[in-house]
Amino acid sequence: MKYFVTGGAGFIGSNFIKFLLKTDKSIKIINYDKLTYAGNLENLAEIENDSRYSFIKGDIADALLVDKSMSGSDIVVNFAAETHVDRSIGDPADFIKTDVEGAYVLLESAKKHNVKNFIQISTDEVYGSIEKGSFNEGSPLNPTNPYSASKSGADRLAFSYWATYKLPVIITRASNNYGPNQYPEKIIPLFVTNALEGKELPLYGDGMNVRDWLYVEDHCRALVFLIEKGKHGEVYNIGGGNEITNRDLTEKILSILDKPASLIKKVTDRMGHDKRYSLDCGKLLNLGWKQKTDFHHGLEKTVEWYVKNEDWWKRIKTGRYLEYYRKQYGNR
Ligand code: NAD
Ligand code: TYD
Repeated sequence: MKYFVTGGAGFIGSNFIKFLLKTDKSIKIINYDKLTYAGNLENLAEIENDSRYSFIKGDIADALLVDKSMSGSDIVVNFAAETHVDRSIGDPADFIKTDVEGAYVLLESAKKHNVKNFIQISTDEVYGSIEKGSFNEGSPLNPTNPYSASKSGADRLAFSYWATYKLPVIITRASNNYGPNQYPEKIIPLFVTNALEGKELPLYGDGMNVRDWLYVEDHCRALVFLIEKGKHGEVYNIGGGNEITNRDLTEKILSILDKPASLIKKVTDRMGHDKRYSLDCGKLLNLGWKQKTDFHHGLEKTVEWYVKNEDWWKRIKTGRYLEYYRKQYGNR
């Protein structure tokens, strides 16, 4: 099988590529990534010389390069996106360009190349917030910020290529991921690394917003499972069932690191901050997928990874990353 993975230099995409290479000997993978601020080839250093893997630097909104690069691929997995809600509130333009227009370019190209499977990586955030109960795949979409609205556009556009052209599309909506190599702007890596540096942890609003956490390797396992067992034209929720308030999460991180609660700093709330995300994952569980990593163990492993990989996140946080990067990877 020949995979065309977009956004493979980011957090989930790089974990997915490493996971695939471990599980399938006969695979070929092209990683197509623009290398934005969030793309980091260091995340793939351990497999960059694997003969089954190759890298193309490119934008998913670049139709000519996408067309040329996707040729001969069987499966497209689209991780490429602008992903940080706070950035989308500040400047939505790149979100619309990449998350919506980029997805359109990929879908058009996949149609031309007759790919056998197109996995659109969507998100639980497309449903918006829910006070009680959980969203299932039939729940209406109600995105509330430019990130989740752009992702909703791509999600429904992907579905339209199934409904209209019978392009074999599967759409997945995962909850918040955590694990190694997550860019230190998202809450878990930001708070772990700030605590390690003795800096404050900026907790938004009252800290009572709830997120459901999914260990990134469990997400990757679910994607491989759905590539084998999922039905085209269907949407699948992928959740961890680990709902926790941001305040409790922050306290857990501090307790694992043995750091004081005085590091927590309440700051102005995010605009339009979704209160709670919650997924009903019955559809996926009934197919036979099971989560392997329990939340406490996963969080401990994750914290340990950031403790051991200080060079990785310090380079990013201090901006020394680009200089290091050019030395390693030239002008890519
Ligand atoms: P990330 O920000 O860590 O990585 C995004 C990657 O996409 C980077 O490597 C970046 O260089 C690349 N990229 C951005 N714009 C591009 C473009 N125009 N062309 C090609 N490449 C481009 O993101 P992530 O957290 O790994 O998320 C991956 C996907 O999973 C996204 O689609 C996101 O919406 C979805 N998702 C993420 C989470 C989560 O908790 N992180 C949860 C559910 C769904
Ligand atoms: P984030 O990691 O940005 O993911 P998302 O917004 O996609 O869920 O944020 C997770 C939660 O943590 C969200 O409720 C906002 C909150 N948060 C903070 O309280 N402080 C922070 O510095 C960040 C980045 C997030």
